[in-house]
Amino acid sequence: MNLTLFGTGYVGLVTGVCLAELGNDVLCIDTDAEKIATLQRAEVPIYEPGLQELIVGNVRAGRLAFSTDMARGVAHGDVQFIAVGTPSADDGSADLSHVFEVAGAIATHMTSFKVIVNKSTVPVGAGEAVHKAVATVLAQRWPGAQPAPGFAVVSNPEFLKEGSAINDFMRPDRIIVGLGESPEEQRAGDLMRALYRPFGHGHDRVICMDRRSAEFTKYAANAMLATRISFMNEMANLADRLRVDIEPVRVGIGADPRIGDSFLYPGVGYGGSCFPKDVTALQRMGDDVGLPLRLLAAVAQVNDGQKRQLVDRLVQRLGPDFSGQRFALWGLAFKPNTDDMREAPSRVLVRELLERGAVLQVFDPVAMQEARRCLQDDLHDRPDLLARIRYAQSPLDAARDADALLIVTEWQVFRSPDFDALRAVLRQPLVVDGRNLYEPRSMRALGFDYLTVGRNA
Ligand code: UGA
Repeated sequence: MNLTLFGTGYVGLVTGVCLAELGNDVLCIDTDAEKIATLQRAEVPIYEPGLQELIVGNVRAGRLAFSTDMARGVAHGDVQFIAVGTPSADDGSADLSHVFEVAGAIATHMTSFKVIVNKSTVPVGAGEAVHKAVATVLAQRWPGAQPAPGFAVVSNPEFLKEGSAINDFMRPDRIIVGLGESPEEQRAGDLMRALYRPFGHGHDRVICMDRRSAEFTKYAANAMLATRISFMNEMANLADRLRVDIEPVRVGIGADPRIGDSFLYPGVGYGGSCFPKDVTALQRMGDDVGLPLRLLAAVAQVNDGQKRQLVDRLVQRLGPDFSGQRFALWGLAFKPNTDDMREAPSRVLVRELLERGAVLQVFDPVAMQEARRCLQDDLHDRPDLLARIRYAQSPLDAARDADALLIVTEWQVFRSPDFDALRAVLRQPLVVDGRNLYEPRSMRALGFDYLTVGRNA
């Protein structure tokens, strides 16, 4: 099939590349000329395992191309995917301006039947609004008796996770397709089923529903996952007070199939480009219809507090003033296998520690460059604080002469360090682990003062 992807962010790029890998002819469009030039050289603007190889292979095979030319994009694809960003507007709602820009371009240039697929995360009703916008432009272009070319607007939200995006796309649990009942939309449904059939590996993974429900499903899924995380963080904090070990509790509750065992890890709070933004947007949708979502407000509030947990633990141990103290930070990205720093808990932590007077030695296996850019941005008004950050060369380099080591992101490389070497370079053997990477008993036996999120073994 001929396919066009508008937007070469995480979702757009991974979708385009994976659809090309299965034999489709894919053209990816972005208005950012620099990004397109980078992709045309088969370089990848984001860190995502496996993506580079797939881009190189599919460009070489002639199934994948990149361009800034919107009209060419519209002409190319029978299916037009909109995968542009929907950032939070000032009031917390999703800003849909990029979605409507693309919809406008499709309506302006199309001359034959098009299936317009919304992959961006958009609030309930956005599909209808896109449909209306496209129909309005087409009516202006075909004012006479001759009918305008047909089209359908499909909601097809994406559920991939950064760091395992290729695998998630290639082996989806489910593919949500939301559409109306018109003949155009039924035709679009057949096309979507055919497009996604190879991803089912013998099973039908497509769940068809109406468009509004599909849009809602995306937000409800992320809100549920964010709720699980905040719930577990609150349980872990309570476990600390009651001297209960949260780890067997996690295993014990996860064994119930109604609960399930994934996404139950307490930590430093959720970050990234999705959960915080989607929880806020859903709250906003509730407010708009006079139904404040109290549970989600609490989820967000618990998460804000959790980002400060490691500081609270340090304050309990060392008192509130960190002047003259040096801390090592392992991990800056919001999670492993990505260089994404959006809403990363490390950003909150870094500021709080610096404001209390600490000197920081930070290390991340992949996100150093991105972290430097984001921290410079966050602290542009505080050069005095920025001057107290040292970007280390290795985990041990970060830990050298530090009064405490803080573990923020659970990269594999931090899971089994040389503990003797680590203890030797630390000024004090204090480890504050925001990801519960080690066994508390073994750490104590090794001579560490080891603080965790709810591990009291
Ligand atoms: C999330 C969803 O998992 C995807 O299904 C969804 O498609 C995506 O958002 C999106 O809407 O685009 P992602 O943000 O890439 O994916 O990352 P996750 O692996 O879900 O992690 C999110 C945050 O939760 C991270 O900060 C992570 O550290 C935290 N987390 C996750 C926990 O604290 N505990 C857990 O048990 C799991």
